[in-house]
This record gives sequence, structure tokens and C-alpha cells, in this order.
Amino acid sequence: MFEEAQYLAPVTVRADGGVEVELAHGHPGFADPAYRQRRNRIAEQALGHTVGAPIANVAYTDEEHEVWRVVSEELGRAHRQFATAEYLHGTERLGLPADRIPQLQEVSDALEPLTGFRYLPAAGLVELREFYGSLADSYFHSTQYVRHHSVPLYTPEPDVIHEVIGHANALASDRFAALYRLAGQAARRVETHEALEFVSKVFWFTLEFGVMTEAGETKAYGAGILSSFGETREFRGMTIRPLDLAAMGTTTYDITQYQDTLFLAESMEHLEDVVGTFWATCDDDTTARLAVPVG
Ligand SMILES: [Fe+2]
Repeated sequence: MFEEAQYLAPVTVRADGGVEVELAHGHPGFADPAYRQRRNRIAEQALGHTVGAPIANVAYTDEEHEVWRVVSEELGRAHRQFATAEYLHGTERLGLPADRIPQLQEVSDALEPLTGFRYLPAAGLVELREFYGSLADSYFHSTQYVRHHSVPLYTPEPDVIHEVIGHANALASDRFAALYRLAGQAARRVETHEALEFVSKVFWFTLEFGVMTEAGETKAYGAGILSSFGETREFRGMTIRPLDLAAMGTTTYDITQYQDTLFLAESMEHLEDVVGTFWATCDDDTTARLAVPVG
């Protein structure tokens, strides 16, 4: 439903140095001053982060830990049925806590010995080239706030549940981590904005919303599906197309709706062959050629 680089509440630094996260009127936390204050504080801490320094802890409330517990349990149940074996392998390796929100430093410390990936706190919007480019250096920009406790199974923006349950479990797999890194290298290599968008759309339709055939069934490996209560249950009913670079790189999507067109890899090897090879080799010309409609 969303993408880090594109759908985050704007963060502004006031003249007095205070940091403010602008939640939209329809946001479940809009009328909760304590939640808003926490969001501001979390964003302020993230803005003050220096790469290499420990990530400051977030003071989550008991209600917020309870949100994680509820969602984690629901998603865990769905994953056993609908997630690919490689994603479940990552989940098992990482061993995230089920009863409380882990701090980002803790997630980063658990991930690094497995695949080399580390987490960086993001206050809000991370520019496209920075977000994707950092993947080449095994850094993943992540939000830290959690959705409002009044609606635990819904979030209008990528929260720590999406970033950690969706992405960190995948990043704990050597094979997925390698694909994330290749996407980062592609983002660094291409020069035009159009080419960068093409690379990011291929990421969107694979590592965010990808599905794969496994033992004759359609399973999900994309972080956007696997962190969404609704989408884990509904993705099999969406329009599912064969893996196709040109189509993925040029299909428009609405980040505020359920993703209704999905692309199916025939296997992990197929994904690595088609998408991994594309990211490993693409440049501005490749993407421009692929972006031209055929026929
Ligand atoms: Fe994401």
C-alpha cells in the first residue's frame, strides 16, 4: 500500500528547532496529542542520528507493544500459510520478538551477522536515490513509529511493523539480501530520474509486492504484502501476471490502495535470473529500451 520513499507524513523542523510530523486529518492518530508528541520525538531522534552511532531507543507505550503483539500473531499465522519458504527461512534465522516492538538497534544487531544488513532510522521521506542507493552499502532506512493503537490492523503509512516484519525477515535471508543489494547497485548506476523510477518500480513489484509459485501454490515474498493483515489474505484474488521487467517498470500503481496487479516469479531462481540480472546490469539505455511499448 505504500513505499518508504513516497508515502510518509511530512516532517518539518520549526524555527525554534522543534520537529513536527504532519499527520493528515484522516490519520487514526490525528486527534491523539500524546501519540503526536511521540511521533515528533521519534522523528527528532532520527534526524539527530549519525551513521555508525547507536540508534536511540524509542519509548513505546504498553499499548504500542500490544499492537505489535496482536499484529505479529496475526501475520505469523498468515505467513505460515502464505509466505514463501525463503522468507520463512529468514524469519526463523532472525527470531524477532513476538510480544514487544524490538528497538531498531536490536534488529540491526541481529541482522548484521546474518547478511551484513544494518538499519538506519528515517524521520520521514528519504529521497529515492538515497533510499535505494543505501541498499548497495547494506543499509536499510526504516521508520520507527508504530501505527495508532486504535486500529492495530490498519496503517496509512509504512510503520515499524512494515519495516521490520516485512523487510527485516526478508533481509535475514542471504538470497533476498543479495537482491536488495543489487537493487541498490542499480539505483547507484543509473543516472536519469526515469531510469531510477524504473528500477524502483521493479523493486515495488518484487521485493515489496512480489509473489512466487511454490509447490504449485502462489506464495508471497513482498514486504508490503507480508506486513499487511488484509493483503496477506487477499493477494491470491488479485490480477496475477507473469514476471515481466517492461511491465513492472512501467505499470503505475496507487500507493493508497491494495495492490491489485501482482507479478509472479516461477521460483526463487527465476526471480534471481530475471530481476537480479536486470539490477546487476541495467543502465539508462536498458531501462529506456524496456520502457518503450512493444507493437
Ligand atoms: Fe517497504
